[in-house]
Amino acid sequence: MWTLTGASTEYTVAARENRVDLVAWGPRGVSDGPSPYDFTGQVQYMLEADVAATEYSPDGLRRFLGADLAVAGEVLTLRLVDISEEDGLRAHLLDDRTGLAVTLRWRFAPGTDVIERWAVVRNGGDAPVALTRLGSAGFVVPTPVGSTLHYLWGQWSQEFTPASVRLTRGRFEIGSAQGVTGHQFAPYLAVENGVAAYGIQLAWTGSWQIVADADVAGLTRVRAGRQLAEGPVTLAPGGSVTTPVAAGAYSAEGVDGLARQWHAYERHLAGERLGRTRKVIYNSWEATTFDVTAAGQLALADVAASLGVETFVVDDGWFVGRHDDHAGLGDWTPDPAKFPDGFGAFAEAVRAKGLDFGLWVEPEMVNPKSALYAAHPDWVYQAESRPRTTIRNQYLLNLGRDDVYAFVRDTLDGLLSTYPISYLKWDFNRPRTEADRSVADLDGAHVANLYRILDHLRAAHPQVTVEGCAAGGGRVDLAMAARVDVVWPSDNTAPLDRLRIQHGFLSAHAPHLMSSWVTDSAGMFDERERSLAFRFVLASAGVLGIGADITRWPAATRAEAAEWVARYKGVREVIHRGVVHRIGDGAIQYTLDDRIAVLAWHTGGLDGLGRVPARDLRLPLRGLDPRARYEHGELSYSGSHLMAVGLPVRWTPAHDAELIDLHACGRPAQALI
Ligand code: GLA
Repeated sequence: MWTLTGASTEYTVAARENRVDLVAWGPRGVSDGPSPYDFTGQVQYMLEADVAATEYSPDGLRRFLGADLAVAGEVLTLRLVDISEEDGLRAHLLDDRTGLAVTLRWRFAPGTDVIERWAVVRNGGDAPVALTRLGSAGFVVPTPVGSTLHYLWGQWSQEFTPASVRLTRGRFEIGSAQGVTGHQFAPYLAVENGVAAYGIQLAWTGSWQIVADADVAGLTRVRAGRQLAEGPVTLAPGGSVTTPVAAGAYSAEGVDGLARQWHAYERHLAGERLGRTRKVIYNSWEATTFDVTAAGQLALADVAASLGVETFVVDDGWFVGRHDDHAGLGDWTPDPAKFPDGFGAFAEAVRAKGLDFGLWVEPEMVNPKSALYAAHPDWVYQAESRPRTTIRNQYLLNLGRDDVYAFVRDTLDGLLSTYPISYLKWDFNRPRTEADRSVADLDGAHVANLYRILDHLRAAHPQVTVEGCAAGGGRVDLAMAARVDVVWPSDNTAPLDRLRIQHGFLSAHAPHLMSSWVTDSAGMFDERERSLAFRFVLASAGVLGIGADITRWPAATRAEAAEWVARYKGVREVIHRGVVHRIGDGAIQYTLDDRIAVLAWHTGGLDGLGRVPARDLRLPLRGLDPRARYEHGELSYSGSHLMAVGLPVRWTPAHDAELIDLHACGRPAQALI
């Protein structure tokens, strides 16, 4: 038996004759007792690995209830060779017939409760092996009375919608076959069994699947891995493939507790880049769409600077041929007609206003109407001689090719070294539709080169903040969280829709990644009006930006906006690095050391508020010291009061949002007994 320990949890596995099984997963000490996965009685009408809490199984051993690894042309079995403790735990398994060698890995990310699991599959034989199934890991949860599965679904403009389903027996499956994480489902699942919550996420930016199988004997096994939507991954003799990391987390505090585990993990993934202040951005997309001109952008930049914005990002429409979404992608040269004094002079003019300069790109894409496509029609994905499909009038470049990889890397290097760019918004506005199935691992090649370029950008241009975007939140996963500084969760910035989207986003991802803009009300999607305060507090829940046409804002609105930007700057470290407790659907508490920021929104009707008898809304805070005092301006409360009764908030028709900055002021002189 081996026990791996995280910050407050542990994970114990045991070697069996030909496999590794889970013994316990939960808080420290949970392994000290009989395993909930052990079973009595005889295995009837199936194989032992179908019933056991197996960590990873080929299809020959787990024939009926879902296997993790399979090859074409034969049934695969593996035998356990050895287990060693090295950077966590490693188990070596071997198939003597094909020579396929599998190394399973387990490791807690340092300082967190997230266990990372993956497999390395190597072809040690002398004939090619075609993998038809390539899972990363199976996570087993005791579910004697079934479970509630929580997941996040969506589509463009509705990303990260939380939903749940009751699973007592049978199968639940989510995934993407789009060659990208996708809008439809986040690679995230939480299993609540009535006692605790277990979370699984997959760190992969291509096609993926997460499958939960609930057996009839009280276990739910969650398989996470790549979806081989374009056919098998073929390993030549000596070749190997490393699966993406499947990450698992345990929390006794339900889905909200799991969210805290994921946030801590993503802060770990951010590493030293978490320490950089995420600047307040202005993005011009909603104000100007494709109608980009130097004069128009500078007019916006003038106002942005006066509001306290720190980075000005020019979105789509700045390059040659780009007057709408029909042409131009691929030709990443600034349009001289739009920037008559030169793009460098324009960028310097933005910087002269005290703003950093940022730029939008979509480097994996090409419009048929572009010089790039005319020169390299063979660079786009194509299934043999079948027709090519455009989506948003564009094709996807085959980034897995060496020449395309070099083009994208060099294009970005060129832009970043020619112009004083501090912020890059990398967009991706269509999935893969055509793919040549004769390629050994098309999806893996695209994703690997995407990661190579993102890693290269960090090494070669460390000062540049990179934003990940894919028609909103179509490319958000743990692998991207490790490689970009912020992500754009959705194009939908309408206040009440956005509140729901952000709530779902924060179930799986951390606030320091969550870019959010204040836009004009009513929004492009949802016509319900909300106050400027509501929109600022909402966008302050992550990384604040502004996307409204601020040249049209009257002086009073600008003055109020400047105040909100200043208030946000005062609490942003707490928001980006604090522990998050979501209080219902309308409030979030962020706690960092002795500071607490509470953001709250009134989402209901405003009729009669303030005129008829009503009591203050109370927001019960979590995780405070009951004996300490917490102050907010003139007001002061005990921690006990704030947790047991709650922080009072009073809504009126003119007051529908709050940002409260509380400070702990030490304990009373006499300690309570
Ligand atoms: C996508 C992005 C938007 C914007 C447009 C530009 O839709 O999600 O934020 O950048 O592309 O074309």
